[in-house]
Amino acid sequence: MLDAASAFSTPLVIRREAYRVPDWLVPEIALDFQLDPAATRVRARLTVRRNGGHRRPLRLDGDALAPLAVTVDGADLRDAWRLDGETLVVDLAGDDHLVETEVQIAPETNSQLMGLYASGGLLCTQCEAEGFRRITFFPDRPDVLSRFTVRMEADAARFPVLLSNGDRMDAGEAEGGRHYALWRDPFPKPCYLFAMVAGDLAANRDTFTTMSGRTIDLGIWVRAADLPKTAHAMEALKASMAWDERVYGREYDLALFNIVAVDDFNFGAMENKGLNIFNSRYILADPETATDADFDAIAGVVAHEYFHNWSGNRVTCRDWFQLSLKEGFTVFRDQQFSADQGSPAVKRIEDVRALRAAQFPEDAGPLAHPIRPESYIEIANFYTATIYNKGAEVIRMLRLILGEEKFRAGTDLYFERHDGEAATCEDFIAAMEDAGGADLTRFRRWYTQAGTPRVRASLIAEPTGGRARLSLSQSVPPTPGQPDKQPMPIPLRIALLGGRTGTPLGEERLVVL
Ligand code: SER
Ligand code: ZN
Repeated sequence: MLDAASAFSTPLVIRREAYRVPDWLVPEIALDFQLDPAATRVRARLTVRRNGGHRRPLRLDGDALAPLAVTVDGADLRDAWRLDGETLVVDLAGDDHLVETEVQIAPETNSQLMGLYASGGLLCTQCEAEGFRRITFFPDRPDVLSRFTVRMEADAARFPVLLSNGDRMDAGEAEGGRHYALWRDPFPKPCYLFAMVAGDLAANRDTFTTMSGRTIDLGIWVRAADLPKTAHAMEALKASMAWDERVYGREYDLALFNIVAVDDFNFGAMENKGLNIFNSRYILADPETATDADFDAIAGVVAHEYFHNWSGNRVTCRDWFQLSLKEGFTVFRDQQFSADQGSPAVKRIEDVRALRAAQFPEDAGPLAHPIRPESYIEIANFYTATIYNKGAEVIRMLRLILGEEKFRAGTDLYFERHDGEAATCEDFIAAMEDAGGADLTRFRRWYTQAGTPRVRASLIAEPTGGRARLSLSQSVPPTPGQPDKQPMPIPLRIALLGGRTGTPLGEERLVVL
């Protein structure tokens, strides 16, 4: 008994090194929701394909789900499936099958705000990182990419607006005062990017014409009374779309882009494909009372989520150890955007202040971890200032070392090579090396070592000859599990100024320590 009990309470450690490709792929998923706050029926049709020459069964993650029905190729084979803890295990003989499941969930009692939940009369979802398994049985890992078709049906009076990812293919009335909408997202995506919203919402609508001349319908969905507070978010969205075209060559890909503001939300916002969901505080600004800081925060978060459409959605993460691949890069992109929109110097000071206030203490404490961690027990705990903000600084250093043009060549190559794939941080660095013609072997230490490096600088002016000598050295402090550190390449922009006059003596130079 004691053994069993302690085995049960030993948390499962997930290691980056233990990554294995998925045993089964799910190229297509069709979901059917009979929405009801107390009892929502979810039927899922998964087209599954064996990945490789193994004989292992299909394993579908679940969290607090009970299967009401499981069929394989239309047949109810009770011997073919079983539950292993929360996981639904299905034995499959061939390489291609249609697996259908049905569950019932209760959004109104879902207080974790992960999966499908109720917020202020709305039904909405949050699936990153592992919330999709609270909606239906599925291989809930970011390297399983599927084309989603979603049919939503709900009471027409309570939930007049039904939104999901992609394009709306159909809508109409259903029996008993209900109505439905059918959505299809043509872009394969991991299930953490699935989203759905049902409720009584009104839209601030606008359009954006892309660089290739396509017209995108934009909607920011809020309670009708909040519509006047959405103007700034809409301006920020259009500015973000234009900026990503101009600076990174990234064009938006669907015909629709929707944002929904909800009152109860764990994160600031979420980049679900074509249907971003926001904590209302990052959408709504009352022109009478909002401060400059409120406006800037809204623009920054709108840009961040929009930019994820390429850095995160079109190219996603292979596993959650790669979280900084999308988050560090996207934070860097939103920082660049905000700098361009306002004062670059003020923005940089704000970002460095935030880094020093939140990330430096993390890096100096018991929870210090590299931007690409080696192991985790609970991925939800890794949405940290290190992954996000230090991750952004690492990308910023890469850009400084390579220079603007080579960096852009590197991001172009990265997007081109990995479009539609689940990639790794290593893939990103390799694209930078290949496009930039640089050797980033030592730079990779930024991905493996935790801790804030300290740089010492001493300047000695030589008494004659108008010369000065600058000596630089670095040390990286030990962090838990990493007693000894290797030096990391640190780019420093250096200029010499006259001590009395303050005037520049010579050009600014880049030194890589
Ligand atoms: N992926 C979300 C975001 O960064 C949640 O943090 O925007
Ligand atoms: Zn993000």
